[in-house]
Amino acid sequence: MGWNTLDDMDLDGKIVLTRVDINVPVEDGKVTDATRIERIKPTITDILAKGGKPVMLAHFGRPKGEYVPEMSLRVTVPTLEATLGRPVTFIERPDRATIDAAPADAVILIENTRFSAMEEANDPKMAQFLASLGDVFCNDAFSAAHRAHASTTGVAELLPNCAGRLMAEGLQALEKALGSPERPVVAVVGGAKVSTKLDLLGNLIDKVDVIVIGGGMANTFLAAQGLDVGKSLCEHDLADTARDIADKAAKAGCELLLPRDVVVSAEFKAGAAAQTVMAEDVPADMMILDAGPDSVAHIVQVFARAKTVIWNGPLGAFEIEPFHKATYAAAQDAAAKTKAGDLITVAGGGDTVAALNQAGVADDFTYISSAGGAFLEWMEGKTLPGVAALGG
Ligand code: 3PG
Ligand code: MG
Repeated sequence: MGWNTLDDMDLDGKIVLTRVDINVPVEDGKVTDATRIERIKPTITDILAKGGKPVMLAHFGRPKGEYVPEMSLRVTVPTLEATLGRPVTFIERPDRATIDAAPADAVILIENTRFSAMEEANDPKMAQFLASLGDVFCNDAFSAAHRAHASTTGVAELLPNCAGRLMAEGLQALEKALGSPERPVVAVVGGAKVSTKLDLLGNLIDKVDVIVIGGGMANTFLAAQGLDVGKSLCEHDLADTARDIADKAAKAGCELLLPRDVVVSAEFKAGAAAQTVMAEDVPADMMILDAGPDSVAHIVQVFARAKTVIWNGPLGAFEIEPFHKATYAAAQDAAAKTKAGDLITVAGGGDTVAALNQAGVADDFTYISSAGGAFLEWMEGKTLPGVAALGG
């Protein structure tokens, strides 16, 4: 791969500008999920161990080039300090002298890069300014690598650079799952809408052996086959597109697996009365909210002959009981097979990770990416600018 890791770099006495993604959920001034902060710890620890001074660059929310007090990164400092086990110096308006004057073992966090409109514009002036603050650039923000911004790509082009531990680990896991995978490869693709996953399906058809289609988007495929999906969420205007995808998959030898039976209800609310029907028997006044047990059994069979599973999107409306069952059951089966050493499982995307956490299986998957949009773009086969800019 065309990028360095921290192992390739001499960091002794160097200021290491480290792009991290600590775009974490916050409620009432407190970080409610520290996963992204926990996952940058190996990089910060290793930079310190190599004698470098980490200066973290990060965005938070979408302030659109304005100072927005609620989007100050200051709110992350207590969690960063607790996770890293050391003080973190927060600098609102950075300059080289302040960074130089900080103790050699200091960890520094700079205020939200998106408070300047030059960040998202990837303005060379901002890239040059950032580069002037450090000696080496380390990008550990895979989940922001789909953005070509001053702190992700611009600065990388101006300094010796490398991937951080989380970035390197993520790229290796994804390469193993889709670049040069152990076959057969099964992709599980769910979520509400086909319209947001067209590029994804187009790319996967040529790369994987089976695509399990779940969630609301499966309804569009069922309707395109002439089935009546009642009041289900369905993009009827995409029927031709869905048929086209099915044709291309057939030609490429990629099997599309649609639900055989489905869980339907008259209303979408917790505890709603639900029944299981065959996909061709959906009552006109009901909506599909989950895949049924036969569908899950079919998925389990497909997993049994697979070597690799790559997962993006839930199979049903998992946030609301009783419509979580198919997602949980399929995830639990994939996790058990992973634990037994029979399957490599890689998952990413906000909803997917939430579903796997709720199902209690996240620790058993081979790799869970903390990226949302970047994971999707990577699955679409796109080059991520933040990765492409790491030229060593
Ligand atoms: C994310 O939360 O998905 C990343 O931090 C990227 O954020 P963005 O979608 O605002 O660029
Ligand atoms: Mg996002």
